[in-house]
Amino acid sequence: MKVIAINSSPKMGEGNTALVLNPFVEGMREAGAEVELFYTKKLKINPCHGDYNCWFKTPGKCFQKDDMEMVISRMADADVWVFATPIFVDGMSGPMKNFLDRLIPLILPFYRLNDGHCRHPRGEGTKSGKIVLVSNCGFWEIDNFDPLLAHMKAIAKNFDREFAGALLRPHGTAIRRLIKGNIPIDDIFDAAK
Ligand SMILES: Cc1cc2nc3c(=O)[nH]c(=O)nc-3n(C[C@H](O)[C@H](O)[C@H](O)COP(=O)(O)O)c2cc1C
Repeated sequence: MKVIAINSSPKMGEGNTALVLNPFVEGMREAGAEVELFYTKKLKINPCHGDYNCWFKTPGKCFQKDDMEMVISRMADADVWVFATPIFVDGMSGPMKNFLDRLIPLILPFYRLNDGHCRHPRGEGTKSGKIVLVSNCGFWEIDNFDPLLAHMKAIAKNFDREFAGALLRPHGTAIRRLIKGNIPIDDIFDAAK
């Protein structure tokens, strides 16, 4: 099973998102999955120009020459997409949204009914598969993830993929302090794994 994980925290491997994502990646690898992890901050990904060239002029291909060329071919071939983002202003981080906008070459400029809802079909070269959301936020309450969760479920429908579930950690800002204070919180990481 091929998995592509995208971590969009500006703090990359040093962030709280990584504290939740990394054991999950480890667990997938131990279970035999081939996992590639990308940080949006390390990639040069320009914003979508919104001109639909990737649908009508050069179907399936964006005209922009940046790192998305390399990542999108891996996304097309992956069984599972893992989107990891901190909550920024009640939703996903800007770089994550920028990344997702650039995925539209993978879907077709046609409409079809999906569960009674108008959606785009997947392009021929793109595998069917699943989407997993990984997130953490500053506030305590789990409902701080509700807007992001609803958004990610809609994205799964739009990209013709199954929403497999979410790994969510509220009060992510406390994790490092708890580790420093030798408070036993390995159960969080074990659960993620
Ligand atoms: C610009 C910005 C906006 C944020 N907005 C929210 C928010 O709306 N709700 C919330 O619970 N936490 C919010 N946070 C807190 C982050 O989600 C939290 O610090 C998280 O642990 C950051 O993850 P990271 O270390 O991987 O970047 C915000 C943080 C920043 C920097």
